[in-house]
Amino acid sequence: MQKKTVRDINVARKRVLVRVDFNVPLDMNSGAISDDSRIRASLPTIRYLIDHKARIILCSHLGRPKGEVVEELRIAPVANCLSQLIGLPVNAVADCVGQRIENEVRELKQGDILFLENVRFHPEEEANDPYFAQELAQLADVYVNDAFSAAHRVHASIVGVAKYLPAVAGFLMEEELNAMSKLLTSPAHPFACLIGGAKVGDKIDLIQNMLKRIDILLLGGGMAATFLKAQGHEIGHSLVEKDKLNLAKELLREAEEWKVPLILPVDMVVADEIKVNTVTKVVPISDIPPTGCLVDIGPKTVELFSNELRKCHTIMWNGPLGVYEIAQFAQGTRSLAEFLSTVNAVTVIGGGSSAEIVHEMGLTDKMTHVSTGGGASLRFLEGLPLPGVEALPNKI
Ligand code: 3PG
Repeated sequence: MQKKTVRDINVARKRVLVRVDFNVPLDMNSGAISDDSRIRASLPTIRYLIDHKARIILCSHLGRPKGEVVEELRIAPVANCLSQLIGLPVNAVADCVGQRIENEVRELKQGDILFLENVRFHPEEEANDPYFAQELAQLADVYVNDAFSAAHRVHASIVGVAKYLPAVAGFLMEEELNAMSKLLTSPAHPFACLIGGAKVGDKIDLIQNMLKRIDILLLGGGMAATFLKAQGHEIGHSLVEKDKLNLAKELLREAEEWKVPLILPVDMVVADEIKVNTVTKVVPISDIPPTGCLVDIGPKTVELFSNELRKCHTIMWNGPLGVYEIAQFAQGTRSLAEFLSTVNAVTVIGGGSSAEIVHEMGLTDKMTHVSTGGGASLRFLEGLPLPGVEALPNKI
């Protein structure tokens, strides 16, 4: 990676402001953290800083409080979770700038960890306000950005602060950029993209940027309905993005131009309604009933996709292949996740719900790389710059 990292800077005795992305999912009822993988992912950076005698000031957002204090989005439970994972005290403070916080920082000893309050409680964060960025910067001597998953945001703690302090990337940022860049620049071929998700519109730029790099494209999820319709299939009651039909046709044509086989489902699970405990049946795509909604890929498609993926040396997966939130319709997605965990290939899971599924199924360690970033990894693979990465200086 070209960017300077924590290895390139002396942190001993320094006050180090570390931007992490501990925007973790919270259980709606209990407020408990339902997936701590983003916290675990930044542990190597935090441990390194402790071992190298830094005085650590962590900073994160949590949820979208829109510039106001929202009690349910306080950082304390996240700091608690970190404390348990790392086996050390973590002092969560009630704000992220101001005299009281400066006093707390002054008290920090080597290896101590202070966790600033949810940085989005201040509207200046999302506005990338330069004075707010300076206030954050004056707490520290060095800035480390380990928040790959928030690097697509032009916010004060991600972009602004890097102007006022020596800035470097953390290990998670480095790992993410290495894994994602390799897909774009030097993947082992054959290289397949398996893309799902609800809407074609969300994935057009990704597909277009990947077509020139891949050897095969497999599409599932709600968006497959629009492609099937564009090919002239009847797709029952399924939601078709009518305004995207021409675009789907254009992508089919582009794939042909790049000589990339674009493989669509050959059978589907259909239901009369998208709800729990409904009656479903598996039908070939030539036989979708007029009242049916497509809710998952069928077993023949799972077999077809697996056979194609088995031939590949690199596989990038982004997006569920059915309405996976309802267990009954998650079988196709789960079968392919399971399959990817067994293949002898580089497997990169592009964040968001695909990553959630992999974590939930306990398959994380069986994949080459599971991104912590949904929006950020999508933007990166679309070929667009990430402002939080651009703000970090290159190695000389
Ligand atoms: C994410 O969860 O994708 C990041 O933490 C960014 O959060 P945001 O979409 O609220 O900016």
